[in-house]
Order: sequence, then structure tokens, then C-alpha cells
Amino acid sequence: MTKKLELYKCDICGNLVEILASGQGALVCCEKPMILIKTELTENEELNDKHIPVIEKVVDGFKIRIGATTHPMTKEHHIEFIQAISKDEKYIKTKFLTTEEIPELNAKCNSQTLWARALCNIHGLFKKEF
Ligand SMILES: [Fe+2]
Repeated sequence: MTKKLELYKCDICGNLVEILASGQGALVCCEKPMILIKTELTENEELNDKHIPVIEKVVDGFKIRIGATTHPMTKEHHIEFIQAISKDEKYIKTKFLTTEEIPELNAKCNSQTLWARALCNIHGLFKKEF
């Protein structure tokens, strides 16, 4: 059984899937079950400092950057994408990044609350609520 907005990865081919609607079935890729990507919960301050989204309320929405100390953006180590998601999950913005970009996202969302997540190619998925 899957839940809306879960992310699943295939360890063999690298396919990455986001659930848009929940279902009873289990996801399979390359003939193996896909792996649910869970949010990293670490007490490593240096990791948290570079990965947990920093969310700022601005006039027309939110500005999100990864993280308090900007995450590296090199070929070897980078943020693959950032997402901004309203609490009611009606608004979702995904920004895919290249290594030339600063890991930040502007979300023009009129919700008062929102959460954001970012996927690092090495350290995994980090999330923050506002
Ligand atoms: Fe990282």
C-alpha cells in the first residue's frame, strides 16, 4: 500500500517514483520491490545544517533554501530537487536543479502553512514544516 507523495526508488536502475494517488499495490521495478525513501532524522548538526530546508514567508508565498549553510552543488554531491507542498497537499511545486544553480525555490502559494523537502544524491531526503 502506498501513500500520496511518498517517494520510491529502484536500487538497480535508479528509477524514482512519486505517488500522486494512494493504492493497495506494492511498486516493483527491475523485478524487485521499490524502496520507500524516508526522511532522514539525524542528530548530526553538520548534516542537518546543510540539508534541512530553511523556509521564509515572503509577500507572495515562501522562499525555500537548502539549508542554513548552503548545500554543495557539485557533480558528485548535490540537491536533485526541492519541493514545496501546502499542508492540504493541493499545491505542490517541484524544482529540479542543475549543479550550476543555488539550491533554492520560490513558491507562490497563498497557504499560511507549508512543508518543504529536498533530496540530496548522497545523504537522502530532508524535510521541514513551516
Ligand atoms: Fe548532501
